[in-house]
Amino acid sequence: MQPTHRPVISATGLFTPEESISNEELVASFNTYVERFNARNAEAIAAGEIEPLEPSSVEFIEKASGIKARHVIAKAPVLDPEIMAPRWAERANDELSILAEIGVKAAREALERAGRDAADVDAVLCAASNMQRPYPAMAIEIQQALGIEGFGFDMNVACSSATFGIQTAADYIRAGNARSVLVVSPEITSGHLNWRDRDSHFIFGDVATAVLVEDAAMAPTQHWDILGTRLKTVFSNNIRNNFGFLNRAHPETADRPDKLFVQQGRKVFKEVVPMVSQMILDEAERLEIDPQGLRRLWLHQANTGMNRLIAHRVLGHEANEDESPTVLDTYGNTSSAGSIIAFHLHSDDLAPGDTGLICSFGAGYSAGTVFVRRIG
Ligand code: COA
Repeated sequence: MQPTHRPVISATGLFTPEESISNEELVASFNTYVERFNARNAEAIAAGEIEPLEPSSVEFIEKASGIKARHVIAKAPVLDPEIMAPRWAERANDELSILAEIGVKAAREALERAGRDAADVDAVLCAASNMQRPYPAMAIEIQQALGIEGFGFDMNVACSSATFGIQTAADYIRAGNARSVLVVSPEITSGHLNWRDRDSHFIFGDVATAVLVEDAAMAPTQHWDILGTRLKTVFSNNIRNNFGFLNRAHPETADRPDKLFVQQGRKVFKEVVPMVSQMILDEAERLEIDPQGLRRLWLHQANTGMNRLIAHRVLGHEANEDESPTVLDTYGNTSSAGSIIAFHLHSDDLAPGDTGLICSFGAGYSAGTVFVRRIG
């Protein structure tokens, strides 16, 4: 095979955990926790020493975010008001770790859909918001489980990890350093979500996605040309997680809520919408693509209101579900996997020649665009 150095998306894969939590179930558990907390602390609350906790509401969650349910790997402990965190048995070092396991499931589907033999893949990037451990890299464990030679490494750009991974993979192909690269995004966000925080307890869900980026010369007949990729980062503290290996230097604060996901949702909304809309329009202009002619936008899935505004600015009119599909109603925010789930579930019906956009945005701030065209 003579490489063309033109990167394409050959196939995608998705792993969805079986269990799902509805807003009703989530709010019932949260409100029980609130009642118990307020009862346990009744004296201190009456003395004005601590603030009582406020209950959550299904109506608020649906109206503010568009989320109706989220998949999780372990439902019972998350809903147990005395636990409110995921729980499973710790695995031995010679067993496949849980983050790698769900990544492998998504990756296998992508390989199968492309008709690709693992032996023909050159590299694995594990691109996700949270790695299970610092090392050995999750990507190398996934690589080994799939029987891939070559190399693998982890990369974390929060909600934009997958699009940053796609550009990195595309650049390997453009440079001729690889012909077939798997970008795997296992997101066990239930582990970083503070299920006791009313402002954010409804946001995230667990999932894994995979994207197979390849040289056009080896791609299956039906694939997606990558017309252009663009990345952007702007530092912001409005989405932050202070968990890390240096927490042990100040053990007295190791369990504080800032060691989990924390955000200023309003500010994120206000600042990210104009940043991302402009970035998409600038990149479309550079690629000489008419944004109003885009057949479909597969946007990051954090908030339906944000997506409505971004899609409107890009397409020049109110987008319908067909033009900008929503998956966060059933998946919640799955961090970097969101736009890839939307692409995976809502791209088969497009016609050859149709052009669309995969776009991520989130913590960092970070944003990534991948313009694609259906071939075959
Ligand atoms: N149930 C009931 N009321 C709640 C609540 C809950 N679970 N959580 C917050 N509220 C209250 C707040 O206390 C506030 O009350 P106040 O007006 O009396 O102060 C009110 O509802 C509005 O809260 P606010 O946080 O301003 O809501 P919002 O409309 O901004 O929606 C988000 C919150 C998180 C859904 C929204 O800001 C968002 O999605 N932003 C974008 C986030 C994003 O994209 N992040 C990227 C992460 S990767």
